[in-house]
Amino acid sequence: MPNVPDRLISLFGSQAEVARRLRIDRAVISHWVKCGYVPARWSMEVQSVSGGQIGADEVLREATLAKPIRLKSRADDDSVSANQEGLAMNQFAPAKRITSFHPPQRTLMGPGPTEIHPRVLTTMSQPAIGYLDPVFVEMMEELKSLLRYTYQTKNPLTFPVSGPGSVGMEYCFVNLVVPGDKVIVARNGVFGGRMIENVERAGGKAVVVESEWGEPVDPNKVEEVFKANRDARLFSFVHAETSTGVQSDAKTLVALAHQYESLAIVDAVTSLGGSPLKVDEWNIDAVYSASQKCLSCTPGLSPVSFSERVVDYVKARKDKIKSWFMDMNLLLGYWGATTRTYHHTAPTNSLFGLHEALLLVREEGLENSWARHARHHLALKAGLEAMGLQFLVKEAFRLPQMNAVRIPESIQSKDADIRKRLLNDFNLEIGAGLGPLAGKIWRIGTMGYSSRPENVMLCLSALGSVLDDIGYKIHVGDAEAAAHQAYASLHAKAAQAKQQKKAA
Ligand SMILES: Cc1ncc(COP(=O)(O)O)c(C=O)c1O
Repeated sequence: MPNVPDRLISLFGSQAEVARRLRIDRAVISHWVKCGYVPARWSMEVQSVSGGQIGADEVLREATLAKPIRLKSRADDDSVSANQEGLAMNQFAPAKRITSFHPPQRTLMGPGPTEIHPRVLTTMSQPAIGYLDPVFVEMMEELKSLLRYTYQTKNPLTFPVSGPGSVGMEYCFVNLVVPGDKVIVARNGVFGGRMIENVERAGGKAVVVESEWGEPVDPNKVEEVFKANRDARLFSFVHAETSTGVQSDAKTLVALAHQYESLAIVDAVTSLGGSPLKVDEWNIDAVYSASQKCLSCTPGLSPVSFSERVVDYVKARKDKIKSWFMDMNLLLGYWGATTRTYHHTAPTNSLFGLHEALLLVREEGLENSWARHARHHLALKAGLEAMGLQFLVKEAFRLPQMNAVRIPESIQSKDADIRKRLLNDFNLEIGAGLGPLAGKIWRIGTMGYSSRPENVMLCLSALGSVLDDIGYKIHVGDAEAAAHQAYASLHAKAAQAKQQKKAA
């Protein structure tokens, strides 16, 4: 293996070029060549100018071998020097050279996470402050009020739990399910299944109402189960099933639960900010969501909201809630209306990000955000259909932000290859099918900041190009033309509506 000075010269062609790149005199390079090593203090620069091809650790190793570090003489009992200790500690260092992580720029059109709004990223990189700093506490109040707007609720207990959507789900179940409770759970995809797990782990008994994957939860079936289980105290369902792209009629389902004197827990992970969700108008008792879908924020926060009825219900529980971290009574001490005492170290910078993400929703207007998701869904749909692709879900129940598209049977065996090509050749991520739909559908998300015309057009062009490449018969360009046409007609309609409104 040539030494580092020789490798630098073969990398850049000449001593003069190495000197130019490192911005030092050529005589220094010539000296390195003569000695056969680069001094340790240059290790980081060498790694940086070689674009990581020569690692700082290689420079250090070679320099240390050529010129061992002289140890100062020490007293006999001070036998372990800092350097020896350092070398001994190196045995635990990773075998592979590691440099700072720089992810590639991807277009994210899967089921989440979605792209993060640049304003959210900028806000998150602000200096840290303490989670009890008065400035932070003021921001928390704003964040709660922005969340109430996004959820369309006046519920005082509306805040983000520290953790992904799964933590929000667990927060709802662990606080509401008393061991022994009977809970009716509707399952029409992956996440209904997770609810069953949560009920059982909280000590409850799940009574499951099954619906086909790709179908909404059927209120008639739910009512049958309520009639047969009049002692059920809770009912839960997924409003927007991310695994199939279907939306269920939350308003009707919640009303049904109340008719049978049950409380309703609603999963709004994929619906919040992307399609109509009205917590107060629909009388939802407990709801949870996630930051990384239609809110265009980073993953790791789960906005939740409990009605006052639910807060009283949980407060009245005689038994100890089975999770310390998610016990509503303890979280109230930090997120409640009157107190701010330590519960856990809040993820401050992530919360700055969520504040900004919700502010973006407020600035855009919630209805406009829903309309934007619908508009890009319609353009994408026009393009996909022009390509000959079909949706899994019937039109009336389709989620605008989560498009489940059937993979034509003739190319189902190439599913993974197609997605890999989209990622490698176009930096575009789309989602695979899950469970019984694995290999049968693609899940194309147009959520949050990913819901933009350039994403829709890229997706259609890239998918068209890859499908054409693998020999699937399509007319290249038709999809883009159809999407353009859809946009044009939607814009014309919007302009007309605006004019009519003005005239009125
Ligand atoms: C409907 C639904 N519920 C719950 C979750 C779990 O959320 P997370 O992955 O943030 O834990 C997801 C995640 O995609 C989801 O789509």
